[in-house]
Amino acid sequence: MKNIPLCIPTIGEEEKEAVMECLSSNFVSSAGPSIALFEEAFAKYVGSKYAVACSSGTAALHLAVETANRITDNNYFKYFVPTFSFAASVNPCVYSRGATNLYFVDACPETWSLDLQHLFNNVNFENGVRSSYDHCIVIPHLYGYPAKDMQKFVNKYKKNIFIIEDATESLGSFVDGKHVGTFGHFGCFSFNGNKMITTGSGGMLVTDNIEYAEIARSLSQQAKIPNIKNEYYHNDIGYNYRMTNIQAALGLAQFRKLPQFLQRKKEISKRYDDSLLKGGSWVRQQAPENSDVTMWLYSLCHTTFKMDIDALRDRLAFKGIETRKLWYPLHKQKYNNGRNLYYPFLFNRDILSRKDKSTAQLLWERGISLPSSVSMTDEEQDYVIEFFLNEQNQL
Ligand SMILES: Cc1ncc(COP(=O)(O)O)c(C=O)c1O
Repeated sequence: MKNIPLCIPTIGEEEKEAVMECLSSNFVSSAGPSIALFEEAFAKYVGSKYAVACSSGTAALHLAVETANRITDNNYFKYFVPTFSFAASVNPCVYSRGATNLYFVDACPETWSLDLQHLFNNVNFENGVRSSYDHCIVIPHLYGYPAKDMQKFVNKYKKNIFIIEDATESLGSFVDGKHVGTFGHFGCFSFNGNKMITTGSGGMLVTDNIEYAEIARSLSQQAKIPNIKNEYYHNDIGYNYRMTNIQAALGLAQFRKLPQFLQRKKEISKRYDDSLLKGGSWVRQQAPENSDVTMWLYSLCHTTFKMDIDALRDRLAFKGIETRKLWYPLHKQKYNNGRNLYYPFLFNRDILSRKDKSTAQLLWERGISLPSSVSMTDEEQDYVIEFFLNEQNQL
């Protein structure tokens, strides 16, 4: 039986050599030449002035939140966060300061990201603001797809609301020639094992503001003040979030292959689209106008309630095809029970004609992600397509 995984990394000889070089030179930790080189190359590619390499995408997001707190001296942000995303989009907002002032916003029916249009219609961040930056928002770009109306939101509100883009899943996607993650105050990327490029675990924080970059960099290294007699003087409560030289060397080797990875993901996406969208039973995310999108994880949502996604997944698993459900809405997670969250949630326009459900709930109930590894062959993809189409007809 075949075994077709969901999304695995592609590691070659170049990566092995790069890691071996670190081991031989003893630059295994957060000192070493590769970290600055990786930061520089990454910042250049996404078109950002500064990049801070971190131990994970979650660490990058947490550093963004903590830096926003330091800059504004505001511990009491109202956080607008997606209910449809991976938990790490939201958790960093509550790590240090408690889960107060969280407004979960529903998913955009077209892009599945946080619905900015709904915010335009329902919240005016310019009204009732005590001082600038009482609000912070985390906007994810999911499965490779940019959030819609990003530039419009930034133009209107960048001076009123701290904007953190969770671009962890969207390396290689642009809107109007601008890379996702470079619209707001901060952009966060992930190099987890299943991401577009991997460093094992790793992340990158990008910003155009030198002060933000310096605070984030310092916080990532225990907030130690360099070059003073007392090496153990810290000017803040810092974290051990710095990327290691081994991770950065691996990242640089992967980064050189990014163009071919992006190309392959686009091919995979097109082959799935051509076969699976024909009947109209499934819909995909839609790319905003003028965007150049690279799918990261190919995901679909059924247009009716008739499809039993769990049964379909079981049948595909039986054929050796790994799939995944879309996210369970974050506001419904058990660990959020009893926390001081804000109600009502800003739930929104309906995507698939059920007025009584949030879009996030519908995506969870009807959505599925399919194998999307760069290394998947056409033959393997045809096998997935064949069984996906066959098995759903059995249900
Ligand atoms: C949307 C989203 N946000 C945040 C993260 C966290 O990234 P990491 O796993 O590198 O901590 C991930 C990936 O795992 C993600 O998919």
